[in-house]
Amino acid sequence: MPKRAILALKLLAHLLCLAPFALLLYRFQHDNLGPDPVHTITHFTGNWALYLLLASLAITPLRRLSSSIAFLIRFRRLVGLYAFFYASLHLATYIFLFSGYDLPSVLLAIRAGNPGAILQQWHLVWPTIAGDLLKRRFIQVGIFSWLILLALACTSPAVIMRAIGGKNWQRLHRLVYLAAIAAVIHFWWLVKPGVRTPWKVTVALALLLAARLLYSTLKRRQQPTKVRRTAPLTTQ
Ligand code: HEM
Repeated sequence: MPKRAILALKLLAHLLCLAPFALLLYRFQHDNLGPDPVHTITHFTGNWALYLLLASLAITPLRRLSSSIAFLIRFRRLVGLYAFFYASLHLATYIFLFSGYDLPSVLLAIRAGNPGAILQQWHLVWPTIAGDLLKRRFIQVGIFSWLILLALACTSPAVIMRAIGGKNWQRLHRLVYLAAIAAVIHFWWLVKPGVRTPWKVTVALALLLAARLLYSTLKRRQQPTKVRRTAPLTTQ
């Protein structure tokens, strides 16, 4: 595919991945976040983090379907980084809005020349966050998923790949499947008993994992079996 076409497609991919964020800002500007804006922002960012994570996983099996769409692989990193972007917005929403951090007062205090309010407010909400971390398993598994995404985002540049070696880099980046599994568990553990909302993302993830497993099995079968060099048997 020509370089210009790839550049145009990359621009389109950036615009598509940023569209949910733009929509969220638009709804915020127009006071259109529903009766509980914090709830809306938390769920919106969480959902988009998960959708983009699944989309980045879907690129690998999709590009194997036909050589004409093999170029899709160039977009996997980009989509994965946007998943991390939304997951980080989701975490920031949890810390600065959901947990009771009084962001408007802090912003007013900063404007009035009191930046210390950032830490004062943090000291106030920290016990709530620590309590959530210890008590709520859905928060624990959410943090676990985000930490994996953080590690993958930090090691995504090509220079890091070269430094640690392609094979090691690939092995490390397979953790993205674990991050997705943890994110789906996070979703199941936060919904009320009997609520089945996360079923669609669960089916999507199960299909992606099955595709991955099938591909590895077929690849292993296609590889010629290694001839083991054994010492010739001697009869005494
Ligand atoms: C970084 C640590 C995380 C924290 C502290 C966190 C916290 C939360 C909270 C408080 C909620 C709302 C719960 C409620 O309404 O009762 C939520 C919902 C959700 N989170 Fe997270 N989360 C984290 C990581 C993640 C990650 C990494 C993903 C996905 C990649 C994710 C996806 C979701 C989804 C899909 C929902 C539910 C959305 C819905 O119900 O529509 N979260 N999270």
